[in-house]
Amino acid sequence: MNIPAIQIGSITASVPIIQGGMGVRVSLSSLAAAVAEEGAIGTISSIGLGDKEASTTDYEKVSREALESEIRKARSMTDGHLAVNFMGVLSNVDDLISASVREGIKIIIYGAGIPAKLPSLVTDESVNLVPIVSSDRVTELILRSWDKRYERIPDALVLEGPLAGGHLGFSEEQLNDLENYSLDVLLPTILECIKPYEDKYGRKIPVIVGGGIYTGADIAHMLKAGASGVQIGTRFVCTEECGVSDGFKQAYLDAKEEDIVIIKSPVGLPGRAIYNEFLKKLERVDKIRFKCPYRCLTACKVSTARYCIADALVNSYFGDMDNGLIFCGQNAYRINEITTVKELIAELLDGIREA
Ligand SMILES: Cc1cc2nc3c(=O)[nH]c(=O)nc-3n(C[C@H](O)[C@H](O)[C@H](O)COP(=O)(O)O)c2cc1C
Repeated sequence: MNIPAIQIGSITASVPIIQGGMGVRVSLSSLAAAVAEEGAIGTISSIGLGDKEASTTDYEKVSREALESEIRKARSMTDGHLAVNFMGVLSNVDDLISASVREGIKIIIYGAGIPAKLPSLVTDESVNLVPIVSSDRVTELILRSWDKRYERIPDALVLEGPLAGGHLGFSEEQLNDLENYSLDVLLPTILECIKPYEDKYGRKIPVIVGGGIYTGADIAHMLKAGASGVQIGTRFVCTEECGVSDGFKQAYLDAKEEDIVIIKSPVGLPGRAIYNEFLKKLERVDKIRFKCPYRCLTACKVSTARYCIADALVNSYFGDMDNGLIFCGQNAYRINEITTVKELIAELLDGIREA
């Protein structure tokens, strides 16, 4: 199969791959820039940045400045296409989005929440708005409300299936019924749902699928099924350019299929992670006590949360694996070596060509 470029608004990336945004601190400037250098789209995660101590006095400012600094660093490393990923459950999400737009980011990827007001926050139409969805119901909700309130449609959609890493937009029941919620089943429902809006606005809404995409053959399969591109997270963790601790990467290399589990996150969504000492501890105790200094998540009920997810994710980033939560996609167990972004993308492109 020939490798199609992906077009998102006025942006054309020659490689139809988006490296998925990964919090906390998993996808920062070095990874995103390396991906963008290869002609794909590199995504900086906006979540959980900045010095923790300094955040206790001015969380919003510290987070914003840390994100601005990551964007500038990435920009100094590449002229390629960069996106920033946001979670709707962040208490300062609007501030982070506005800062990214000021920094010249042209692709805003928004998940873990419905981006109901996003077009009123980002009025510059050269900035491409890309909601992450997991069902046709939510897709229709977004399209209908944006069309009615703002006469605007998304510039692309990321359809994230149930095999993805991090927080998941599926109930536990749906996660146990993978046959009915696979990307192969979901993609046609999304393509059908967007059709009337594509006709009305006379332009395509590219659908980028993510969750369990592992090989070039997987990518070719989804492109043939009508996707315009893929979003990949897990495979990029075990690259030299990904800035997580060696312990984090080693946990991926050591993981067996049965170690990859679904957890309940204080965010209020299920998540996928590697079973480790931290998760074992949570089975033994009711709560890992913590002090919440800055309310980073609107959805987190501090009094009932069993642990601080920001702390747990930062711990694994820094290599304190026994006290860390290690998010991963379902296919993390298949990774058995550290590679470079260049090698990984070359392998994926060869796989597409061969398919
Ligand atoms: C460690 C990790 C952290 C993630 N964090 C986020 C996040 O903060 N926001 C988000 O929208 N998606 C997040 N994701 C999902 C990825 O962006 C991506 O869509 C997904 O993992 C794709 O599936 P794959 O990992 O099987 O390739 C995360 C995934 C991983 C593996």
